[in-house]
Amino acid sequence: MTKKTDISTILPETLAKSLAEPKSHAELMKHKRLTENAFPHVRMRRLRQTSAIRDMVRENTLSANDLILPMFIEENASERQAISSMPGVYRETEQSVGAIVKEASDAGVRGVMVFGVSHHKDHTGSDSMDPSGLLARMIDRAKQASPDTAVIADLCFCEYTDHGHCGPINDKGDVDNDKTIENIAMQAVVAAEAGADIVAPSGMMDGQVSAIRHALDVTGYSHVPIMAYAAKFASTFYGPFRDAAGCSLGHNEHVPTHRKTYQMDPANGREAIRDALMDEQEGADMLMVKPGMPYLDVLKELSQNTDLPLAAYQVSGEYAMMKFADQAGAINFQEVMLESLMAFKRAGADMVLSYSAIEAARWIKNV
Ligand code: PBG
Repeated sequence: MTKKTDISTILPETLAKSLAEPKSHAELMKHKRLTENAFPHVRMRRLRQTSAIRDMVRENTLSANDLILPMFIEENASERQAISSMPGVYRETEQSVGAIVKEASDAGVRGVMVFGVSHHKDHTGSDSMDPSGLLARMIDRAKQASPDTAVIADLCFCEYTDHGHCGPINDKGDVDNDKTIENIAMQAVVAAEAGADIVAPSGMMDGQVSAIRHALDVTGYSHVPIMAYAAKFASTFYGPFRDAAGCSLGHNEHVPTHRKTYQMDPANGREAIRDALMDEQEGADMLMVKPGMPYLDVLKELSQNTDLPLAAYQVSGEYAMMKFADQAGAINFQEVMLESLMAFKRAGADMVLSYSAIEAARWIKNV
């Protein structure tokens, strides 16, 4: 039997003193709260000691179900092409797209988002509104290859216009909002007809979600959900994508060399929430924040202001930064990728679009 411990030796000195000299009850409780919520009473490391405890207290999980693979499909190409600014990512051909969708599905990825690399560009991007155009063909190919995979159609015109903007240009030299939403409504119907499970308008035109919802509803596609690129910023992190999809600006002197008149100013957080909630009002079924890592605050805030499912898009520049830093020996790609994907979940995302979706899904399954 151990000796009975003197209470004054196991209590913090001040608390022992107040117990010895009782003061008011309120004073006592205040003291108790202060000491109970602080070191040494509280030791955060208690719950970090073993992997079993860490596993039990983990607040978020990352699953292959959360991942969506964005992919590029080049029209009339004979061979898949490596994209130099995104090591490990390829421009698929219309023939190879099926195999990649299948590979994603086998790895456990539930959704793919298809981007066309068009060789039939014009002022409005008409090929993407043609039921036999590239947009319709690649959706059909992806769907045929893996009927269980959700094929998400990015709805935009920048990959299909000869000037590289996300809609036709008006007399003022800017993208014509209302003409673009008429066109995007047609594009949505073409995508739905081709078998798209979800449409994802990314043009940041005002009213695009309601135009698409209306067009889908009156053509028999009321069951097709809209994932709105609700808060899409005018970001330089899209650089490698523009190489990959062939939609860089600057080669046409008659149009702006930026997208700041439709994509959002990276300085604005409140505006992002307003814009996203407008998309919700217009009938969006899911909302997306893009880019991802530099905009986790927007994602978090949006998650506190909506009950819709939320997606985050880890864009091309984010992927490239991690890839090149890994190649330079500065970081470990696998670990930072998984950490960054978990960060999206923590900030409130239900889904993450990532160029690493296939490999990440495999890594997750191995742990
Ligand atoms: C536009 C679109 C872009 C991206 C996805 N959709 C480019 C842009 O807005 O300039 C960027 C994605 C990425 O960088 O990974 N259709």
